[in-house]
Amino acid sequence: MSRLSGKIAVVIGGHGGIGGAIAERFAAEGATVYATSRRTEEGEVGLGTGRLRARRVDASDLTALAAFFEAVSREAGRVDVLAVNAGISEFATLDDIDEDHFDRTFNINVRALLFATKAATAIMPDGGTIVLVGSIADAIGTRGYGVYGATKAAVRSFARTWANELAPRNIRVNVVAPGPTDTAMMAAASDEVRETLTKLIPLGRMGRADEVASAALFLASDQSSFITGAELPVDGGMAQV
Ligand SMILES: NC(=O)c1ccc[n+]([C@@H]2O[C@H](COP(=O)([O-])OP(=O)(O)OC[C@H]3O[C@@H](n4cnc5c(N)ncnc54)[C@H](OP(=O)(O)O)[C@@H]3O)[C@@H](O)[C@H]2O)c1
Repeated sequence: MSRLSGKIAVVIGGHGGIGGAIAERFAAEGATVYATSRRTEEGEVGLGTGRLRARRVDASDLTALAAFFEAVSREAGRVDVLAVNAGISEFATLDDIDEDHFDRTFNINVRALLFATKAATAIMPDGGTIVLVGSIADAIGTRGYGVYGATKAAVRSFARTWANELAPRNIRVNVVAPGPTDTAMMAAASDEVRETLTKLIPLGRMGRADEVASAALFLASDQSSFITGAELPVDGGMAQV
């Protein structure tokens, strides 16, 4: 399959976990993918019918992000597909929340996402697609995840506004909203939290990163050509039933 054949894609936070699965899937489907991470070795590999170009960038550093997009613009000339995945989630109830927790979470989940999208749309041709990785936490009040949920509600809100603003350029903006997904983020939670969460999922298990990547591919490709401003949950039914 080559659903992104010839496309230039960027995945912010594209190494490991959900972002790594998205970057690999986009490349396997024919895209040339620039995938950022603080942890990656820079380099390029062929995957499926596409290419995966790893770039070492700290997504929370707006200067580094701007330099990254300048480099992509110089090398590839455009960004057809953008996925913004980088995000953190830390447990803190209202009593425990402090300024550092608030700033850290909003800086990466909201501020970096906003300015990455702004930089990408400046070099995105008409017909491009944007997939923002949100969370079902945007709509449910999970104890201890108030700030995280608020960041993801901001992501959901941005998608509505940007879908409207970019519609004249036929650029579509959508959110993929995972429920609990088996990645490093979820591995950091205690066994008790993981078990409690799993009991709340009608399909009886956590999601896999590749299942979120499938939904992201759908939203990034022509298969979703009349869908914009939407949120696609990938949560085993957790927030849907
Ligand atoms: N796993 C879940 O259950 C779940 C559920 C709903 C939504 N999500 C969302 O899915 C996305 C990916 O999460 P994941 O589960 O794949 O977790 P993960 O494996 O921990 O990946 C976290 C991502 O965020 C980036 N990141 C973390 N801290 C950063 C920082 N301080 N500065 C810059 N980048 C930073 C990482 O980039 P580096 O490579 O540079 O470290 C990586 O791309 C997040 O937006 C998360 O909110 C996850």
